Amino acid sequence: MNSTISFVLDGGIVSIDFSRKTLLRPTTTVLNYLRSLPTHRGVKEGCAEGDCGACTVVIAELVSGNAVRYRAVDSCLLFLPMLHGKQLITVENLKGPGGELHPVQAAMVQTHGSQCGYCTPGIIMSLFALYKNTSHPSREEIDDALTGNLCRCTGYKPIIEAASQACNGSPEDHISSIEQHVVRLLNSLPGDSLELNTGEQRYFRPASISEALALKRRYQEAIVLCGATDIALRVTKNHELLREIIDLSGVDKLKTISETESLIRIGAGVRLSDVLPHIKGKFPALHEMLAVFGSQQIRNIATLGGNLGTASPIGDTLPVLIAYGARIILESIDGEREVPAHRFFKGYRQTDRGNDELITAVLIPTPAPGVTVKSYKVSKRKDLDISTVSGGFTIAMNENDSVGAVTLAYGGMAERVKRAERVEQFLVGKRWTRDTVDQAMRLIDDEFVPISDVRGSAELRRVAARNLLLKFWSETHHQ
Ligand SMILES: Cc1cc2nc3c(=O)[nH]c(=O)nc-3n(C[C@H](O)[C@H](O)[C@H](O)COP(=O)(O)OP(=O)(O)OC[C@H]3O[C@@H](n4cnc5c(N)ncnc54)[C@H](O)[C@@H]3O)c2cc1C
Ligand code: FES
Ligand code: FES
Repeated sequence: MNSTISFVLDGGIVSIDFSRKTLLRPTTTVLNYLRSLPTHRGVKEGCAEGDCGACTVVIAELVSGNAVRYRAVDSCLLFLPMLHGKQLITVENLKGPGGELHPVQAAMVQTHGSQCGYCTPGIIMSLFALYKNTSHPSREEIDDALTGNLCRCTGYKPIIEAASQACNGSPEDHISSIEQHVVRLLNSLPGDSLELNTGEQRYFRPASISEALALKRRYQEAIVLCGATDIALRVTKNHELLREIIDLSGVDKLKTISETESLIRIGAGVRLSDVLPHIKGKFPALHEMLAVFGSQQIRNIATLGGNLGTASPIGDTLPVLIAYGARIILESIDGEREVPAHRFFKGYRQTDRGNDELITAVLIPTPAPGVTVKSYKVSKRKDLDISTVSGGFTIAMNENDSVGAVTLAYGGMAERVKRAERVEQFLVGKRWTRDTVDQAMRLIDDEFVPISDVRGSAELRRVAARNLLLKFWSETHHQ
């Protein structure tokens, strides 16, 4: 195993050997690393929890060995070893060799989109990723690219104007002119497993599933991470020293998606932004939920495996996966097993996963004809917000317009994501009428004892849960 991470920065290879004395830890964030360099202080810390985007950088990764893909990410949530084998691009890299502004920077100047040095570097980096990936973006695409960047003062109008002005055609820029050089550098980097042992921390980054499973058997208390959008907060907010870590972000096999007529299999390590294009059309309820999941910076690193592993009562994909009848694949070195999503969550942040098991994939069956699946998220704002209450509901009607089968999975109503099973039983066989749904809404109150917290009172949650059922009925009943 290798104790050195290597990545590309400023057109050259940077290596950090953790077996030598260094002030850096494996859990040092890319943000803190950059802030320690005199040459990369454009990046800023606003919140250190993925909400403000002041720390946005762009990561370029090899695609098929001969091209790169650019993604905006929050550097405050990225541990240094997650850069291994990639290119890190910061706002300092955007100016051309003669000091000329990048088209995105020039547009921000022309439209007066920048008022302060705090949010602007992050906004520029999000717009740079948009510039590289989307020509002539729609207003919706621009808004989505900026969801993860907060500006408290100018308003977004000039920034949106800058985006349309800059992203008006070709993604060519001086970064493109060095792209093949970067591809060569990235291809020359070692892609092997990492074991970073600093005495106080052991950070494993296996390159294969079998290696990851062997490590999990050996280090059962080790913290597993995929995208680290949840785990990183333990370091940045709780200031915990994580002693043993198994980072799955280097296991390519966990990043694969395969589809058949009857199901889609999504690897636990697939980033949510890569899940989205595969489920559009076929799994609209999941697509709708992922489209408002965090921000682009979050979706570019967060994974489905991580959302399931967190087992939060307000994890957004959980109710909708239950509604689709998804099955979770758990693997250990002894083999794999499948657990239906609704049986996977056992209690507050507790799952059926054994200490030596990893979540390796999720299987989502294609709904049969006549089955409708819907998802709902109630939050204080549409974007970059955690649910107060969420729902993943399924209904299949009998020919006589009575309910054949129904699943009502709720988030935010109990210590775990939970089905309203008594209401489901009440509904089966009944005609799907307003009168039936009114009775069912009253039963929801007996099913859950929600809590009051910063996101909403218990009463708000009860009302929202009832009304989501009504909304579901209004969208699925036939007049
Ligand atoms: C700013 C911000 C916005 C967010 N917005 C949302 C949102 O809108 N909706 C929402 O639901 N969540 C949201 N989250 C929470 C988080 O992004 C999600 O839970 C995400 O899916 C976690 O994925 P990850 O790969 O980053 O997980 P990680 O942080 O890597 O891991 C999360 C947990 O899962 C476990 N785990 C990860 N992978 C595996 C595996 N393969 N096998 C076993 N255990 C595993 C880890 O041990 C850990 O307990 C947000 C977080 C931030 C910081
Ligand atoms: S510092 Fe706010 S998102 Fe990273
Ligand atoms: S211009 Fe920086 S916060 Fe608005």
